[in-house]
Amino acid sequence: TRPLKVALLGCGVVGSEVTRIITTQSADLAARIGAPIELAGIAVRRANRVRAGVPAELLTTDATALVKRGDIDVVVEVIGGIEPVRTLITTAFEHGASVVSANKALLAADGASLHAKAVEHGVDLYYEAAVAGAIPLIRPLRESLAGDKVNRVLGIVNGTTNFILDKMDSTGAGYSEALDEATALGYAEADPTADVEGFDAAAKAAILAGIAFHTRVTIDDVHREGLTEVTAADIASARKMGCTVKLLAICERARDGRSVTARVHPAMIPLSHPLASVRGAYNAVFVEAEAAGQLMFYGPGAGGAPTASAVLGDLVAACRNKLAATTGAGESAYTQLPVSPMGDV
Ligand code: HSE
Repeated sequence: TRPLKVALLGCGVVGSEVTRIITTQSADLAARIGAPIELAGIAVRRANRVRAGVPAELLTTDATALVKRGDIDVVVEVIGGIEPVRTLITTAFEHGASVVSANKALLAADGASLHAKAVEHGVDLYYEAAVAGAIPLIRPLRESLAGDKVNRVLGIVNGTTNFILDKMDSTGAGYSEALDEATALGYAEADPTADVEGFDAAAKAAILAGIAFHTRVTIDDVHREGLTEVTAADIASARKMGCTVKLLAICERARDGRSVTARVHPAMIPLSHPLASVRGAYNAVFVEAEAAGQLMFYGPGAGGAPTASAVLGDLVAACRNKLAATTGAGESAYTQLPVSPMGDV
């Protein structure tokens, strides 16, 4: 079988971990896909930076030329941000590549039109890594619960802020000391404002709400309040009341069933609640569905290796699907984001 050609856009904390797994576990990946993966190129901003374990001959600073090659089966995007990534992903679709993206900002801003573009070109778009790191959430919501009716998705979806709040609560550390440690561990975004002001959690809430309620939700529809106003004194007084403070994302269907809401804000949680025991950069998400009841998804929500795990899962799915297109058997793709007229948020 011919190898499937993969191009990587971005080689930071997540990208270098993705490269490491593709190169060190190539036999396992080939067995699971049914064909070997060939890493065809890695687009980076500065090619002369030394990256341990990353083949220097694959590095290029010309991301556009890489996605335009025409022989790439799957593009993996771990750059982040809206532009130039939106243009690169669209160009990849136009040149016949499926895309695996970890880009919550872009998907929360423009997921529906990206899906439409992918469909137009007969390719796929996967983004499990965009929400809650390693935790499988997108696929369960899109596929496992596709026959159920989800009424609420609620939880902790930002590892950096959970790390900060946990550190402040358990050690009495100051806010900036805790943030510095989260950055050093690779949890925080390049600009941590996205984490602490709640933009990152709001983007994830928009993506989750869109999938859970089969409607179009963008980050602009999400009410957002970050944790920059939360003080050590607030955390201490929550403690006295038997509570802790968590930054929650809450997506709900209105009682009348005609609209959905999504919001992100700090909340006091009783210490007896399962969310109170979510430590460090872990995330936890409750999904309440009519037939299924309450489901809890829990695990590492940030960091290079956990995010790479989700990217690799999507990469295997995208490769299987590419292979299926030529052999007529294999994985089914994520379908186009369904948009119903009830998207009244
Ligand atoms: N900065 C994000 C977080 C990374 O802390 O959760 C994962 O999306």
